[in-house]
Amino acid sequence: MADLKEKVCIITGASGGIGKAIVEKLSKGGAKLVLAARRLEVLEELKKSLTNKDKVLCVKCDVTKQKDLENLVDTALKNFKKIDVVVNGAGVSSQHPFWEQPLEDIEKVMYTNYFSYVMLSRLVVNSMKENGGGHIVNITSGSVMVDPPPRNFIVYTSLKVALRAFAKGLFWEMRDFGIKITSIFPGVTQTPLTSKLKEVSVDQSRLMEPEAIADTVMFALSQTGNVNPLELAVINQQTPWTKPVIPFKQEHPQE
Ligand SMILES: NC(=O)c1ccc[n+]([C@@H]2O[C@H](COP(=O)([O-])OP(=O)(O)OC[C@H]3O[C@@H](n4cnc5c(N)ncnc54)[C@H](OP(=O)(O)O)[C@@H]3O)[C@@H](O)[C@H]2O)c1
Repeated sequence: MADLKEKVCIITGASGGIGKAIVEKLSKGGAKLVLAARRLEVLEELKKSLTNKDKVLCVKCDVTKQKDLENLVDTALKNFKKIDVVVNGAGVSSQHPFWEQPLEDIEKVMYTNYFSYVMLSRLVVNSMKENGGGHIVNITSGSVMVDPPPRNFIVYTSLKVALRAFAKGLFWEMRDFGIKITSIFPGVTQTPLTSKLKEVSVDQSRLMEPEAIADTVMFALSQTGNVNPLELAVINQQTPWTKPVIPFKQEHPQE
């Protein structure tokens, strides 16, 4: 277990599958937590179940809105004076043949799964620099290792690829300030997100529990000194390595 006592951690997507599992592990590690999501009532319920609830703040935050992200950072700094860890975990799924993908869906995926990660990183790095270090963990996706991106997931996957590239660049740019960057690549995980996807839960043996992803985050945070786990993939043994992470019937009319 990472020694997280006195560490201040912001977690976006804290009300959902992977984010919630991360919150529970961080809480057991004794961290001070700032939980962010749109459904404040779900966050408040989660807070009640945590052992260190006196060290937990819940912030209603739509990560697609810059003002909400600014308020999230301001609230953390006002209450806890510093930010040690940011876990970017908010995300939406998106499964559409590209030619049918609603335009608003493209915008939603871009702002939730990419923009919010970059913007929140930008909003915390200067405070981390002043503080002598920090750690930003992005919940990316195992789909970044699939080339070409899985059919019907090309906007989702290409934004995750962009996020991976951003994090690698951020590592080089921030390491002199003691700021660590980790990208986590989960395979298909049993959460409300995957329950919305077609055909994903056909083979239950291919689904992982969100706790497995949370354990990987804890591993990353437990590395001390100058060790920076830059990229960690957590892939189910049942996922064929060379095939798309999410199997999908070949529905293309030309096939
Ligand atoms: N599950 C998988 O198989 C899998 C695999 C690879 C990668 N991932 C990635 O893991 C991350 C978490 O996914 P999950 O499976 O845990 O999803 P989930 O169970 O559906 O949870 C999504 C979380 O994101 C939050 N969220 C969504 N839109 C938001 C917005 N506009 N503002 C603030 N919060 C927002 C939701 O909270 P509110 O609704 O309360 O706002 C919720 O807490 C995502 O980035 C996803 O791409 C998941």
